[in-house]
Amino acid sequence: MIDPKIVEEIKLRNPIEDVMAQYADLKRAGSNMVCLCPFHSEKTPSCTVFTARQSFYCFGCGAGGDVISLVRRAEGLEYVEALEYLGKRVGIEVVNTDERRPRYDKNRLYEMNKAAARFFRDVLFSRPEGEAGRQYARSRELSEAVVKHFGIGFAPDSYTALSGYLKDLGYTDEEMVACFLAKKNERGRLYDIFRARLMFPILDVSGNVIAFSGRRIDGGKEMKYVNSADTPLFYKRKNLFALRYAKNSCADNLILCEGQMDTIALHAAGFENAVATLGTALTPDHARLLTKYTKKVTLCYDSDEAGVNATQKALRILGEVGLETAVLQLTGAKDPDEYLKKYGKDAFARLLGETRSKFRFSLDSILAKYDMKQTDDRVRAIEEICRMLADVYSVSEREIYTREIAEELGVSADSIKQDTDRLIAKARRERKKAESEEARRRIAGIGDRVNPDYVSNTGAASAEDQLLGLLLLYDEHRATVLRHPDLLSPEDFITAFGKKIFSLILEGEKNGQYSEAALGESLTVEEAARLEALKMKRVSLRQNGAEVFAAYCAALREEKKKKELDKSAVSADDLAGYFAGLHKKLNEK
Ligand code: CTP
Ligand code: MN
Repeated sequence: MIDPKIVEEIKLRNPIEDVMAQYADLKRAGSNMVCLCPFHSEKTPSCTVFTARQSFYCFGCGAGGDVISLVRRAEGLEYVEALEYLGKRVGIEVVNTDERRPRYDKNRLYEMNKAAARFFRDVLFSRPEGEAGRQYARSRELSEAVVKHFGIGFAPDSYTALSGYLKDLGYTDEEMVACFLAKKNERGRLYDIFRARLMFPILDVSGNVIAFSGRRIDGGKEMKYVNSADTPLFYKRKNLFALRYAKNSCADNLILCEGQMDTIALHAAGFENAVATLGTALTPDHARLLTKYTKKVTLCYDSDEAGVNATQKALRILGEVGLETAVLQLTGAKDPDEYLKKYGKDAFARLLGETRSKFRFSLDSILAKYDMKQTDDRVRAIEEICRMLADVYSVSEREIYTREIAEELGVSADSIKQDTDRLIAKARRERKKAESEEARRRIAGIGDRVNPDYVSNTGAASAEDQLLGLLLLYDEHRATVLRHPDLLSPEDFITAFGKKIFSLILEGEKNGQYSEAALGESLTVEEAARLEALKMKRVSLRQNGAEVFAAYCAALREEKKKKELDKSAVSADDLAGYFAGLHKKLNEK
């Protein structure tokens, strides 16, 4: 467990508006601030940062919580990692006193990865077991300078070479497993993961070795690439190959390709602004990372169908974070590596000058699918084009495209515009419907993953929600439940979620260590967001005193009683009602 005082200190020194500013542009709105939600895609801001309460909540997607929840979500971190991240930001060291989960000394892990990279390099350069690697590197036309620049190496065809070497250096089995260098078999024996592979170290922007990608040398039946899984040092969703080298030369334009061999070939040819994702498609995290280094991304994916689809997706993701985009079209080669080998760097530079806009790329991909001389095909192509236009947010941009298309296809701009507008209106109706449906579901608790018991206990669950909101907001109510266990106890709660949160609050209060920030350690980000919503509902009401609290305690108890009665065969209420009615009738007569 982390000392709650340190947690509070870290929160104090990391104002949520400062941290949120890393992910979104904040605008003042009264005493609060609003921004486009970093956790879902939207055009009008529905995310509010409450500066006084130091929390955020998105009315669109329900994300919310304190600054720690924000970082957990935005950076994809566990609670303790988020604390470490925020601690680092302000120079506070986070000491974890929790012995349960293995914690690693990250500096040792960095050193171990560096040692592994050195080992692979030595094998490739000077050891007999490296011969197969040397041959393969030659066959891929990797010059010695390039191999050295990227720190490329070779993992020998052995189950123990690397792990034996690292063991001699004093690294433990657990450390090797944690960094995805070795695995344990069913009998608990450690073995090397990377065998007979050309090894590409993955460096972070400061030059630390954080992961590896290993390529099979040709002829094998094994997977072409083996990449490090996520480790304490590496998140593949947010690291890019060669960004360390590209970051200094990509301010105006960055080239994004699919594979590290492409990236290496581009760098070797002088295009040092190239990067690639690592064994995964582009993620919003990658896109946000890119905004720190460049304004514009030129996509240079493989020319096959998979590459075209990936381009389509990447364009959307990059557009959402506001990056300018362009698409480079490779003709006569499947990927940049092959293109450079066949046609040379001047030809590639020419392609860079002739890139297509996102609009042109999408239009071309549609036109390529149809035979525009056939009437049926024409109709369907225009339908699809209108759907694409309907996705263009800016009216003036849409107008320009509409005119261009009308001219190119020989149809009137008016008819395209009418069709597009109809689609936009339809999409808007559907969005509205989906939103109100979503709101309805949330109110009814259907599909409620945080509190699955809600839907079958709406009465009790809503009383629980009110109580939790009050407890989270006011010290006095927490003091009350501590002093009067008869007023409210965990057993009074009907939903597992309510019981869990209440128990956590009570436990913290008993140890004299309650702090909402520390509570976060036991919550998922979704649970933290829900608590934020509960507080928000409560804080907007005027009556939050002891009477209200007592009333909800009573209501919850009442609900519980009802629930128990429901279970006992014939409902007593029904019988009572029946007799009351009978009695009334007799009296009237
Ligand atoms: N990739 C992967 N696992 C695979 C295949 C591919 O992780 N089994 C990733 C690698 O990062 C690779 C990228 O996807 O660099 C692109 O794959 P592909 O186009 O198949 O490879 P190339 O980059 O052309 O690699 P090579 O030239 O070595 O064949
Ligand atoms: Mn290739």
